[in-house]
Amino acid sequence: MNYAATCLSAVKPSASAMTSELAKAMKAAGHDVIDLGLGEPDFDTPPSIVDAACDAARAGQTRYPPTVGTLELRTAISDKFKRENGLAYSTDEIIVSNGAKQIIFGALMASMEPGQEVVLCAPFFGSYKDITLIQGGVPVEVQCPAANGFKLTPDALDAVLTDKTRWLFLNSPCNPSGAVYSAEELKALENVLANFPNVLILSDEIYEHILFDDLEHIPFVRACPSLRDRTLTVNGVSKAYAMTGWRIGYGAGHKTLISAMTKVQSQISSGACSVAQSAAVAALNGPQQSVAEFREAFEVRRNLVHQLVTKIDGLHLDAPGGAFYAYIGCANYIGATMPDGNTIDDDVALAKYFLEDAQVALVPGSAYGLSPFVRISTAAPEAVLEQALKRMEQSLLKLSKA
Ligand SMILES: Cc1ncc(COP(=O)(O)O)c(C=O)c1O
Repeated sequence: MNYAATCLSAVKPSASAMTSELAKAMKAAGHDVIDLGLGEPDFDTPPSIVDAACDAARAGQTRYPPTVGTLELRTAISDKFKRENGLAYSTDEIIVSNGAKQIIFGALMASMEPGQEVVLCAPFFGSYKDITLIQGGVPVEVQCPAANGFKLTPDALDAVLTDKTRWLFLNSPCNPSGAVYSAEELKALENVLANFPNVLILSDEIYEHILFDDLEHIPFVRACPSLRDRTLTVNGVSKAYAMTGWRIGYGAGHKTLISAMTKVQSQISSGACSVAQSAAVAALNGPQQSVAEFREAFEVRRNLVHQLVTKIDGLHLDAPGGAFYAYIGCANYIGATMPDGNTIDDDVALAKYFLEDAQVALVPGSAYGLSPFVRISTAAPEAVLEQALKRMEQSLLKLSKA
């Protein structure tokens, strides 16, 4: 008896979640594992946001909220777009879901026919591919190598767009590479997209506040206003406000798409948790001090990790411009021999070796479509990052390079 649908055979569970579960199991068994797998801030949600949620629950906001999101939250999001991004979105151009992940899922379900293509810029957030596959779409992976700053070039985009393309997914700042697109780079993509009027663009801007070296976040729609009606801007409170567990994400785009996504959501989950929506209102409308403090802390950690990785023989890391990951090139260790005589064939084997020998949990680049790399989350205290990199260096010293 087969209980799973055929389309699921190609779908992988989230690599970072799996790594983290494995790390937890090893910890429970008494191993001293450092888990740098999962992509979430290690800070607590600011107390004023938690208080707003408690107040909302006590005030009776405990019933089914509107499917599309409360008017209060959609107004706060509309204000945020105006204030922070210089974008005008009315409340009927905005939908709230259980995390940005569900926004992405709903967008594809609302707009894509099976067999249509979704263009992904590798390295990409792994869920993009699996969400596409679950819905019978065809992921088309464009390799965006480190030499190009892990960014999509107009020529590479032009080479993959066809009449089957339904979506192009962009993500700046990028998980896992930390790449940040400039206005000029986005405009160059706009020129190519002008020739493909049926292609929709998903611009995932969830890491917009985690930027380093005084870089500025350029919202895709601000750089490319001609594509406003074809773009779904995706964002959420998970990363900026340390609210991963509250599960609030949002999307802004053409009314027709938003209303189709609302229809999908009405049959999947109904509106997102009422209390969490009130917390998100407090996050967006309240003081933004903690966002700035988190950003500063992430920059200190980025600097530390960049400095330490650069000192390790055979690893490569250009300082990421944003987000809280280090996507570390490890080509020099592919083909190396482990103390047990076995070979490190790929980045999956290297990640496994790091887990077993260094007891550091991280995610292989293959989960993000570009190898050979390993991704560590830098959302951990500096002492933990230092210890993890020291252990990784010691484990690498035990390998004989090919
Ligand atoms: C690029 C990117 N988009 C979306 C998400 C999902 O965020 P949420 O917690 O809002 O579902 C993540 C989470 O890791 C991410 O890295």
